Amino acid sequence: MAKIPPHIIDEIMNTSRIEEVIGEFVNLKRAGSNLKGLSPFTDEKTPSFVVSPSKQIFKCFSTGKGGSVVSFLMEKEHFSYPEALRWLADKYGIQVPEEEQATAEELAAISERESLHIINDFARDHFKNNLLNSPEGEAVGLAYFEERGFRRDIIEKFQLGYCLNSGDDFTKAAIGKGYKLDYLEKVGLVKSKDERQFDFFRGRVMFPIHSVSGRVLGFGGRTLLSDKKIAKYFNSPESIIYNKSEILYGLYFSKGDIIKYDNCFLCEGYTDVISMFQAGIQNVVSSSGTSLTKDQIKLIRRYTHNITILFDGDAAGIKASFRGIDLILEEGMNVKVVLFPEGEDPDSFSKKSSKDELDEYIKGHTQDFISFKADILLKDGNDDPIKKAELIRDIVHSVSLIPDQITRTVYIQQIAARFGMNENILSTELIKLRKGQLIKTNQEPAIEEIQVPVTAEQATSSSTPPKNHHHEWLLIRLMVKYGARIVEIEQFDEEGKKFHGETSVMEWIHHELSKDELYIQHPIYAKVYSKFVEGLNENALYTSAYLQRTDDQEIVQFISDIETETHELSSKWLSNYRIETRTESDRLVEAVSHALYAFKAATIEERIDELRTKLAQEDLSDDALMEILAEQMVYEKLKIMFAEKLGRTILR
Ligand code: CTP
Ligand code: MN
Repeated sequence: MAKIPPHIIDEIMNTSRIEEVIGEFVNLKRAGSNLKGLSPFTDEKTPSFVVSPSKQIFKCFSTGKGGSVVSFLMEKEHFSYPEALRWLADKYGIQVPEEEQATAEELAAISERESLHIINDFARDHFKNNLLNSPEGEAVGLAYFEERGFRRDIIEKFQLGYCLNSGDDFTKAAIGKGYKLDYLEKVGLVKSKDERQFDFFRGRVMFPIHSVSGRVLGFGGRTLLSDKKIAKYFNSPESIIYNKSEILYGLYFSKGDIIKYDNCFLCEGYTDVISMFQAGIQNVVSSSGTSLTKDQIKLIRRYTHNITILFDGDAAGIKASFRGIDLILEEGMNVKVVLFPEGEDPDSFSKKSSKDELDEYIKGHTQDFISFKADILLKDGNDDPIKKAELIRDIVHSVSLIPDQITRTVYIQQIAARFGMNENILSTELIKLRKGQLIKTNQEPAIEEIQVPVTAEQATSSSTPPKNHHHEWLLIRLMVKYGARIVEIEQFDEEGKKFHGETSVMEWIHHELSKDELYIQHPIYAKVYSKFVEGLNENALYTSAYLQRTDDQEIVQFISDIETETHELSSKWLSNYRIETRTESDRLVEAVSHALYAFKAATIEERIDELRTKLAQEDLSDDALMEILAEQMVYEKLKIMFAEKLGRTILR
């Protein structure tokens, strides 16, 4: 693939706003100078995901992940480095030189996941082209959509398409492009039978299913025949990129409005989402034929805490949907329900009505889950006291799932009012149910506790000072944070005379280490260090912001961890070495010399240890012994000198 030229990378990085990009995935709220939200990498209820617009970095405190806007996209969307850049370029309208056509060989080298995405993108374009530009597509597919009342702009927005009925039109095109049959079958676009291949979706109109960032994960294909024996919809099979239970149709298009209106409408399928969009209601998603899952709810929770379920007037599945309501409540979210008139679904209803009528209907028929359940269940129970008691217990059970106590209390009051019941009786019932549930949920954490506690080694994320390398870490940290700062220090000229001179922190540290031929050993620190040195060799003082543009995500993560100064262990080290982060920039010279001495002292200590081991060898010649002893003396002297400079018992 064509490389992205460095000046374009610069432009992309300078234009991109991390808060805007992450804002597409996470509902961010201001928290001081930062933004905060629920981590997209983990399942959490209290926000621990922080974005710093001024530093252009993010940090997830639950998972430890952090980095630049590019690392975020790589982590979240499994993009490669150039893909993340291309995505940003696309978002910000920056021209990137055309990607060369990938050859079959190049394709083989790209990861499987990537190949499947590429194939799906190709299929989407192929089907789209069929729909709009082939005689059969226009006469059959497009005509169908138009008959359904889908406007052209909506057809294009949702990237709808058509798979020709010929049998292997798509298969031929894809194989011709060099795509592997194995992959084509994995995404379910091609089927093999008796050594022959054919298009799985032949003769169907195609609905691409997008990820939150707009990549095509799979397809739904609707038949145009009304033969009851033929499945109305075919859906892509599960694959490494398509996991039905974690995907919501339409979310890519609706997330902005979901945040804006702080509510998400949930309906049954593709056609409902599209018709609602066409009618002007754009905060809508669907779970596409499957019943709502916990993961899907969590996906919505990143954008809003409010879900409004839209039900068909005659859905036999309404009672089955109660499970979905409970799941939403359990996630601590608010759920409302709109029931459409007999025989109508959001699709058909929005076709018939103006936007105002649709709005009006939804507003007028939004119910909370209590009255919704009550209405449905009372329909067949009426005033039968036993049925009624069952119903009340059922509703109280739903309430008992809500994590927040105040919310539970409010609902209990509502139930009491609706059924003319004594609140205390309901509360007692509620407490009984909660007790039962708490015992269950308490058992789960117990399993987690058995897991081996995080050891120092395990806790060693890239920014944590691991044992034996903490002195290196202190130095690299200062380079990252203050490398380009100019300080005035005492230096020695060639004749050994002391003079005051100006230098940068980075050059100073580099000078001190190379003078004594000392090396950074820890692989990540060494990588960061050599990046800085690379800059010095080109007469440039790299800032950490600059280094964050490197394609090496280990470096990016390391640097942003330091920038956010997040690690518990790191603050421990800092206080051990009496480095107060708040004031250290004022006392930079002191901090750097301290870190340099500590590093040198630690190195000497190591060498002395090595010498001791050598001395312990039995077959040493006299000469060798003398040499070692001499060396040892030099080191011991240096050690004392550094100890004095450090002025503390750093050398235990
Ligand atoms: N659906 C599905 N698989 C099926 C049937 C339905 O995934 N076998 C989903 C589709 O997302 C569809 C939604 O459920 O959009 C609504 O179903 P239905 O109304 O039967 O589909 P429509 O295409 O709207 O059919 P019709 O024109 O008959 O209303
Ligand atoms: Mn329908």
